[in-house]
Amino acid sequence: MSEQTQETVEERTNKAEKEANEIENELDKITKGDLSFIKDAQLEKLTSENEKLKHRLAILENACRNEKSNSGVTNAAKKLNRKRPLLLTDMDSVTGNVCVIDELRNIFGTAISSAYPDLVDPPITISLSGNNPKFGDYQCNSAMAISKLLKAQNVKSNPVEVAKKIMGELPHSPFIDKVEVAGAGFLNIFLNRACAEKILNCVLKFGIDPPPVKKERICVDFSSPNIAKEMHVGHLRSTIIGESICRVLEFLNHDVLRINHLGDWGTQFGMLIAHLQDEFPDYRTNSPPISDLQAFYKESKKRFDEDSEFKKRAYSCVVQLQSGQSEYIAAWKLICDVSRREFQKIYDRLDIQIIDRGESFYQSRMESLVKELKEKQFLEKDEGRLIMWGDPEKRDGIPLTIVKSDGGYTYDTSDMATIKQRVEEEKCNRFIYVTDAGQFTHFVTIDACAHRAGILQEHQKVEHVGFGVVLGEDKKKFKTRSGETIKLINLLDEGLKRALEKLIEKGRDKVLTAEELKAAQEAVAYGCIKYADLSHNRVNDYIFSFDKMLDDKGNTAVYLLYALTRIRSIARTAQISLDTLLAEAANIGIKLIHDSEWKLGKVLLRFPEIILKVSSDLYLHSLCEYLYEISSCFTEFYDKCYCIEKDKDGKIVKIDYDRLTLCEVTARIMEKCLNILGIKTVSKM
Ligand code: ARG
Repeated sequence: MSEQTQETVEERTNKAEKEANEIENELDKITKGDLSFIKDAQLEKLTSENEKLKHRLAILENACRNEKSNSGVTNAAKKLNRKRPLLLTDMDSVTGNVCVIDELRNIFGTAISSAYPDLVDPPITISLSGNNPKFGDYQCNSAMAISKLLKAQNVKSNPVEVAKKIMGELPHSPFIDKVEVAGAGFLNIFLNRACAEKILNCVLKFGIDPPPVKKERICVDFSSPNIAKEMHVGHLRSTIIGESICRVLEFLNHDVLRINHLGDWGTQFGMLIAHLQDEFPDYRTNSPPISDLQAFYKESKKRFDEDSEFKKRAYSCVVQLQSGQSEYIAAWKLICDVSRREFQKIYDRLDIQIIDRGESFYQSRMESLVKELKEKQFLEKDEGRLIMWGDPEKRDGIPLTIVKSDGGYTYDTSDMATIKQRVEEEKCNRFIYVTDAGQFTHFVTIDACAHRAGILQEHQKVEHVGFGVVLGEDKKKFKTRSGETIKLINLLDEGLKRALEKLIEKGRDKVLTAEELKAAQEAVAYGCIKYADLSHNRVNDYIFSFDKMLDDKGNTAVYLLYALTRIRSIARTAQISLDTLLAEAANIGIKLIHDSEWKLGKVLLRFPEIILKVSSDLYLHSLCEYLYEISSCFTEFYDKCYCIEKDKDGKIVKIDYDRLTLCEVTARIMEKCLNILGIKTVSKM
């Protein structure tokens, strides 16, 4: 897999290099020869094409460099094959997608290795410096730890000395302006502004490119409601979080398999089918008008609990269904379709892409899996059941129930078959499951058993993305006033209603067209529900409050959507098109001179870092916090730096194009973040 990717990146690099060279030769000939036959426009076109190609080339070369480096390799492998990624040594190879903190780690790692070649795996710690500009922009705090390591080896040293020695070995880098040793051995790093400007100018000219990573095939199992049962707020959280996780990973060009592990198999279908046969005997020819499947479920459950004849029939229905009898399969499909249509309404509204692949898909796979586990003697008898321990020596925690005493399979069986399918058939190398925190132990045990059974390799793992429960404003379980569970569709409707009220309260209905108002209403309603969920640390419980999420102050979707439209309107109200802006900016581009320009610029530079972090720990609230930070820094910048100066009659007297380009890049990065969070942006609201 990695070999293959490396080859294609390399091939692509060669091709781009060839093309860039060809154009360069052509340009060369033209500039040397007689220019009269060629029109300016043509020359301009070629020059810009060449620039774009060179940029793509630099991006590909960096990706190649990354592929060849040891990032993403396990520690053990790293030790065997220590190779540090090549350093970016000149400004030409700096592109819009570089991750500054990674580059710094790289630079300091190189310096530390040359200063202390005998230290195995020396600690390389780089962090942001905080607010005081005296301490630089980033900090390297490795000297203290290294000094301790040396002392442990009986080498006399102190952190300041170590810091100085590291500083002496720093390779030249376009990223760093200067480094100072301070206090007890801190290395304060001052970023190079020209380099920062170059990065942001690339974003301006070529758009936002993802930082290079090794391409993986990743399965994200999310949403996953149960047929005929209600899709509840827990599923809503899984849906929202799962969708965003997929978006981050897809932005990084991973191959993502979005799976809806529907609860579409199990004994409840016996009673549903039996009830269907009674209520709608002609269901095979006339599609029964079941609009409320939950009520239908309740009715059948009532009969199941009260009527022993019915119960018997229900059981026999399960047997017929699982043996694949066509009539029963047809009834089952019919019921599943009713549910699916309801789920789809929610997915459409929230713009969720997902592939339905429920538990039923694994029936035959469960059969062969159980056979295999039995043969390999992983299963133990326990009160008529067959169970499997993650660690048969320790026997702690709860074992999986692989076969029930009545011979049936369980949620555990299906998840073991699922992971096997994802490894062997789908060839995935990352396995993400988004469910409530209550299923934590289940997935820990699945992970242990999958390793024990040899399904997962040592370096692979089940990644459970857990989240807390949704509470009402009274901090109790989220319910309607009359104490019923809340239907998701009604919740979304309520969001729409409240969003419209909010927009009307702000008088937006008077300035927007009907179409714009509707777009704003939907963006606000669904955006606020998603953002409220994503902006809290997912492991915590979260309180669902429309009042809070629709507040236009603070870290909310409404605030951010307003902030973005405001930034976008700066150039628009001055009637400057993007083309004009880019043309005017071609000579100067972004300049980070004023303190607040520099501050905003540095925050924008962190985009690749934040994306990489989120793609690894899968905590989306850091992306929300980042978005909020951008918007706060932008406000500060806009307060202090004029972009467009007007006289007292409101006539424009001066346009600061390089500042307007900073606005443009800010808007683009904010838009990208919102897009990753699954939040639709609007140009007016
Ligand atoms: N249907 C389950 C539930 O409602 C969630 C399934 C999650 N995915 C999985 N592979 N177990 O809780």
